[in-house]
Amino acid sequence: MQRKPVSAKVLGLGAYLPERVLTNAELEARPELETSDEWIVRRTGIRERRLAADDQATSDLATLAAQACLADAGMAPEDLDLIIVATVTPDMLFPATACLVQRNLDARKAAAYDVLLGCTGFVSALATGAQFVENGSLDHILVIGAETLSRITNWTDRATCVLFGDGAGAVVLGPGEAGEGLLSFVMSNNGQAADLLKQPAGGSRQRVTPEAAAAHLDCVHMEGKELFRLAVEGVPVVAEAAIEKAGLGPEDIDLLVMHQANTRIIDAAADRLGFPAEKKVVTIARHGNTSAASMPLALAELRAQGGLSRGDTVLLVGFGAGFALAAAVLRW
Ligand code: ACO
Repeated sequence: MQRKPVSAKVLGLGAYLPERVLTNAELEARPELETSDEWIVRRTGIRERRLAADDQATSDLATLAAQACLADAGMAPEDLDLIIVATVTPDMLFPATACLVQRNLDARKAAAYDVLLGCTGFVSALATGAQFVENGSLDHILVIGAETLSRITNWTDRATCVLFGDGAGAVVLGPGEAGEGLLSFVMSNNGQAADLLKQPAGGSRQRVTPEAAAAHLDCVHMEGKELFRLAVEGVPVVAEAAIEKAGLGPEDIDLLVMHQANTRIIDAAADRLGFPAEKKVVTIARHGNTSAASMPLALAELRAQGGLSRGDTVLLVGFGAGFALAAAVLRW
């Protein structure tokens, strides 16, 4: 017998940040970078970021966030049907990092795979996981955003090395009543802009030869100015589409949780959307840009500070490599 369609509700939330804090002052103290705390704060809003320990890989961060998330939901690993990890810094290209998390958790009945998309990955993974719950084929989906960007950062390039940080955040989805959980989502991609943000070597096009490594082709390469422009233009478009699809108006949104890449992007996009300052969630100062981890980390920090409660209507907006954009409206 076919089951009644249900909504995909957030049953739990968890996060993990590595202990090591790298401050702007430490970057400023490296004369070859010719950077300063003042420049980094003024141009990005970042004050510090976390770095994974030498023996920590993305699956380790993801596992710790997953355990916190399951504890929050009051669930056991064996309750999970599927684990999706959004990341661009997998432990290795295969097996998928989600498979390693499934092993670490001993989530015996869960299938597992990764979404390799970058900063938009968490929203796309959330939308993907929600489909299984909504159509009644699976009950409990763990969606994790996890990154160790410090491993693919060129620490001699001041234009990128001041931006990135490591961390992980997770939500677990399960069946809810109509009007709870994921109310809508919108996803898009502009492949014409795909070269603006990439890790050129390490895939099938370019191996990591000694020459490629010397040229840092195994690290993040980014054309920041153009990405900035695309983000400020694109975020309001997907955000408004997601709000409309949810049958809501901008006034119904309580919290705007955007990918945390730059406070100036958040401010400019929120202004275009006409969102007042108190609805904007900004956590980049202490986390840096953690790509797929940034939104679940922001949600966890917000809740820890008492800023996120059951029933709040949250607009998530991701943007980044691809050039991908995705927005989702969640009733928390
Ligand atoms: N310290 C000091 N000076 C710097 C630094 C630094 N860390 N970095 C760059 N500069 C200098 C540049 O060399 C340049 O100097 P010049 O004028 O003498 O040539 C000047 O500052 C201005 O450089 P811009 O690149 O124009 O700086 P901008 O204000 O655009 O800020 C930034 C750069 C922060 C990268 C910004 O463009 C940005 O945030 N872009 C968007 C990034 C993004 O959203 N990426 C997508 C998501 S990330 C992901 O998917 C992983």
